[in-house]
Amino acid sequence: MTNAAEVVRLDPSDPAFGADRHAAYRRLREAAPVARTVVNGQDSWLLTGYAEVEKVLKSPANTVQPHPGEFPAHIGSGPAAEFYRFSLPNVDAPAHTRLRKLASPAFQPRSVKRMRAWVEEIVTAGLDELAGRDGVVDFVREYAMKIPALIACRLLHAPMADAATVLERMPGLNAVLSQGDITPEQLAEADATAQFYFDYIGDIVDTLRGKLDEDDPVGALLLAEADGERLSRTELVVTLVGFFVASYHTTMVAMTNAVYALTSNKDQFRALVGDPSAARAAWEENLRFEAPVHFVWRYAGAGLELGGIPIPEGDHLLLGLAAANRDPARFERPDAFDPRRPDNRHLAFTAGGHFCLGAPLSRLEGEILLRELPRRLPDLELCDAEPPRTTDLTFAMISRLDVAPRGR
Ligand code: HEM
Repeated sequence: MTNAAEVVRLDPSDPAFGADRHAAYRRLREAAPVARTVVNGQDSWLLTGYAEVEKVLKSPANTVQPHPGEFPAHIGSGPAAEFYRFSLPNVDAPAHTRLRKLASPAFQPRSVKRMRAWVEEIVTAGLDELAGRDGVVDFVREYAMKIPALIACRLLHAPMADAATVLERMPGLNAVLSQGDITPEQLAEADATAQFYFDYIGDIVDTLRGKLDEDDPVGALLLAEADGERLSRTELVVTLVGFFVASYHTTMVAMTNAVYALTSNKDQFRALVGDPSAARAAWEENLRFEAPVHFVWRYAGAGLELGGIPIPEGDHLLLGLAAANRDPARFERPDAFDPRRPDNRHLAFTAGGHFCLGAPLSRLEGEILLRELPRRLPDLELCDAEPPRTTDLTFAMISRLDVAPRGR
C-alpha cells in the first residue's frame, strides 16, 4: 500500500507492472492520486487521477521547461538536444505560442479535408492487402508499422518508397522524448537518429520551396520560413521532423490497440460496419481505453495545489494520461471498452496549450480504419489473447499482434 509520503518507483521492466499496467495505476490512484516518485534521477510528483492531470494540463502557469531557457540534462548537447529544444512539446511561451501559431494551419479543417482522399487510399489499400493473406500475420509488422509510415511520408512529401525503411529508425529518438531513464548508448543512438532526420527532411524541404500552397502542412511552414522573421530553418526542419515522428509512433500504437480491443470484442467490431459515427466513437474510446502515450510531464507553476497538497513551484510533475483515462471518478466502468460512452473527453491527446496538433489527422485515420476494417476483414480473428508488450515507461505498446485476417 502506498501513501502520499512514500516514494513510488515505476519500473517498466518489472514483468508484473508490464503485464497489467492499468492494475498498477489503479492501485496507485486508490492509494494516493498525487504521489512522490523519481524519474530520470529527479524527484517528481506522480499523478494518476483525471481531475489532477487535467488541472495541471489546463493551467498555462505549469510549464514544460524547468525554467525559461533551461532544458533537462538527460537530452545531452548533440543533435537530439537540438531536436528537443526546438520541438513544440518541449518549449513554453513565447516560443511555443509563435511556433504553434505558425504550425497550426497544417491541421486546420481545410488542410485535413484535403488529406482525406489520400489517407483513405493508403488506409484501405493496406486493409485489402491484409484481406488477401491466408493464415496468421503479425498486425504490427504487416499493417500498423507500414500505414502510418506511408501517411507520414505523404504528409511530408517524402518518397513513398522510403516508407518501408525511413521510419524504422524513429524509436531511436524515443529515449530523449520519453519520461524514463536514459543510458549513454540510448543518447548516442538518439543523436545519430536526430541527425539522420535533419538531413533527410532538410533535403526534402529544400526541393519544395515555392511549390506548395498554405493549405499544405509543409507549404504553410515554408511560407512562414520565407518570411525570415517568423521561422528559422532549424525551427522549420525540427517542426517537420516533429510531424514525421509524432504522426508515426502514436498512430502505430493506436491502430494496434484498436485492432486488439475490437477483435477481443467481436460484437462491437460488427457494430461498426458502415457507420462512420460509430467508427469515430470507437477510435475515441480506443484512445481513452489505451492511451498510446502513457505519461507527459510539466513543471509546477506558482500556487499549484493538487488534492489538497501544495506543490512547490518548479517541481517536476509526471502526468499519467493512461491512468487518468481509467479514473472511475471521471468515467463509469473505466475498464470496459465501450464506444457508446457519453462525454468521452479522454486525455490521450492531453488538454490545454500543447493539445495534440495532429489530432484531426489522427481522427480521420481512425474513422477510416474502423469503418473499413470490419467491412473488408469481416472474419478477422485474434490469435493471441495476451500479446507481448514493450517496456518503455512512456511509449508502452503491443510489440506483436498475431491475427488471422480471413479467420481460422
Ligand atoms: C493516436 C495518435 C496520436 C496521439 C495519441 C498523440 C498524442 C500526443 C500527445 C500526448 C502530445 C503531447 C501533448 C502535451 O505534452 O501536452 C502530442 C503532441 C503533438 N502531436 Fe500528437 N498524437 C497523435 C497523433 C499525431 C499526429 C498524426 C500528428 C501529426 C503530425 C501529431 C502531431 C503532434 C504535434 C505537432 C504535437 C505538439 C503539440 C504542441 O506541443 O503544441 N500527433 N500528441
